[in-house]
Amino acid sequence: MKKTIVLLPGDGIGPEVTRAAAAILRESAQEFNHQFEFVELPIGGAAIDAAGTPLPSETLDDCRNADAVFLGAVGGPKWDALPVGKRPESGLLDLRKGLGLYVNVRPVKLLEPLREISPLKADRLGDLDLEIVRELAGGMYFGERGNTAEKGVERAWDTESYSTPEIERIATFAYARAENRSRRLCSVDKANVLTSSQLWRHTVTAMSAVYPAVKLEHMYVDNAAMQLTLRPAQFDVLLSSNMFGDILSDAAAALMGSIGLIPSASFGSSAPLFEPIHGSAPSLAGTDSADWVEQSLHRVLAGGYRTPDITEPGARTVGGSVFTEILREEMQRTFEHAERYGWGV
Ligand code: IPM
Ligand code: MG
Repeated sequence: MKKTIVLLPGDGIGPEVTRAAAAILRESAQEFNHQFEFVELPIGGAAIDAAGTPLPSETLDDCRNADAVFLGAVGGPKWDALPVGKRPESGLLDLRKGLGLYVNVRPVKLLEPLREISPLKADRLGDLDLEIVRELAGGMYFGERGNTAEKGVERAWDTESYSTPEIERIATFAYARAENRSRRLCSVDKANVLTSSQLWRHTVTAMSAVYPAVKLEHMYVDNAAMQLTLRPAQFDVLLSSNMFGDILSDAAAALMGSIGLIPSASFGSSAPLFEPIHGSAPSLAGTDSADWVEQSLHRVLAGGYRTPDITEPGARTVGGSVFTEILREEMQRTFEHAERYGWGV
């Protein structure tokens, strides 16, 4: 396999996260004879400092031509005073828009060796394994906005709006995911208050005839937030708008004990974008090399190693770069083991 991967380290711990991910990808490439060409470009606050804009046009162009994009993180106190549209976060939003990314998938799957760092009691946590399918190109994030000041009174607004095709394309993805998982789809909205949510609910319901094997349920977002906290194991695929998905994915991440444990993959009309939701390295799912990384990660965690964000009493706490080194060594051992006995052992 020969692929070009654009790395967008961004701000804060983004560069560390990106370095770790690239090291793991390089390791996988070497063993599996893949050829990954890495191109590193600025985004977010780093790009504001270097080029005066959070998404320089070369960054977007190179991302468009890449096979995949990996982003670390954007934002930080240094740029907090900037207005919406000029902040580091706009770089990420413009990138999502520029790559036509309308699907965002956030898997929330318990890592068994980390069960104890979850704030939930073990019996409530159950076998936590759900997926948030978040609409990524519409809604309030990209709706009309503005502000006025009349007679000393300031007013600001953002608009939530969805069209039927926008809802259908994300729901199509969510139904397909549910078909391939436990066939339960929970669509989240606020249809008791918002007209955009009423169209959302109506559209998702109308599509259920095409997916008879999937059990569709609707839930108001406030209840969904509560149910996620009380009994998260009831969920399989959660489908939501851009804004609700943003909020629910942080809540779901908390169940794992750290926001750094949840990866995020976005798909659309050009290169897919992989990012933490924020703070950790996502893995490419569904391939041998991803299995290899996951198995090795489980072993390192089971060996008691933790980075400071997920540490617990009695753990062997190490920094990110040492952890990455330990993971690479474990990958080497796992590989030798798998060569001898096969994968999945
Ligand atoms: C996320 C993040 C982003 C979002 C920010 C950084 C713009 O919170 O990916 O969930 O709101 O989508
Ligand atoms: Mg978020």
